[in-house]
Amino acid sequence: MLEKMGEFFDARVDGYETHQLTSIDSAREFYPFTASCLPQASGSRILDLGCGTGLELGYYFEKVPTARITGVDLAPGMLEALRNKFRDRSVTLILGSYFDVPFEENAYDAAVSVESLHHFTKEEKTPLYGKVKNALKSDGTFILTDYFAASEEEERFRRAELLRLKKELGLSDEAFYHYDTPLTVAHETEALREAGFSSVAVLKNWGATYTLKAVR
Ligand SMILES: C[S@@+](CC[C@H](N)C(=O)[O-])C[C@H]1O[C@@H](n2cnc3c(N)ncnc32)[C@H](O)[C@@H]1O
Repeated sequence: MLEKMGEFFDARVDGYETHQLTSIDSAREFYPFTASCLPQASGSRILDLGCGTGLELGYYFEKVPTARITGVDLAPGMLEALRNKFRDRSVTLILGSYFDVPFEENAYDAAVSVESLHHFTKEEKTPLYGKVKNALKSDGTFILTDYFAASEEEERFRRAELLRLKKELGLSDEAFYHYDTPLTVAHETEALREAGFSSVAVLKNWGATYTLKAVR
C-alpha cells in the first residue's frame, strides 16, 4: 500500500518523535549534531525543508533560542504539532511542497533538512537545490541530514520498485507517495553541485545516515 506523503505523516503524528528517536539508528546523535552545524549567532534565520514536528529545531533552539525559523512542510498535522511546541519562539510556517512554494531570496543564514529528501529523484532535487542556494545569504550553508543508498544498484532498485507499485495500484498521478527512494551520497552531491553550490562536504555519518554541508 502506498500512502500520499502528507497523509502518511499526519496519520502518525502522535508518537512520531518517539518513533524517530527510538527506531532510527543514531537519531539521538544526528539530530543534535545537525543543530550544532547551524549558525550559532543569536537571531540567525534558518529555512527548514520538511520540518515536520521540528525535532531538529528543538535541539537548535536549546543553543539559539532567538533563532528565526521558516519551516516548510506539506503535512498540516505535523506543522500544528510544531506550532504547539514552539509557541514562544520565532517560527513562520509554510504549508506546501518545498518544490512549489517560493523562498525569499538572499534571506537565510542557513537552510536545513532532516530525513525528508530521500523520497525524490536527482532530477526533482537539482532545481529545488538551486532555489535553496538562492534563498541563502552570500556566505550561507545548507545542512542536509538524511539517509542514503549504499550503492547505485540500491538507488535504481528502490526507484523501480516505487514505479512498479504505482503501476500495480493504478496510480498515474504526480502526487508524492511515501516510499523511500534515497540517492547515493555521490548523486546527492552531484545534484547540489549542479544546482550551483560552491562546495559540498560530508561532515559525519552514522551507518547510512549522513550529514552533508553545501556552501553557497
Ligand atoms: C520523516 S519526516 C522529518 C521531519 C523532521 N525534519 C524530522 O527529522 O523529524 C519527513 C517530513 O517531510 C515532509 N515532506 C515530505 N515531502 C515534502 C515536500 N515535497 N514538501 C514539504 N514537506 C515534505 C513530510 O510531510 C514530513 O513531515
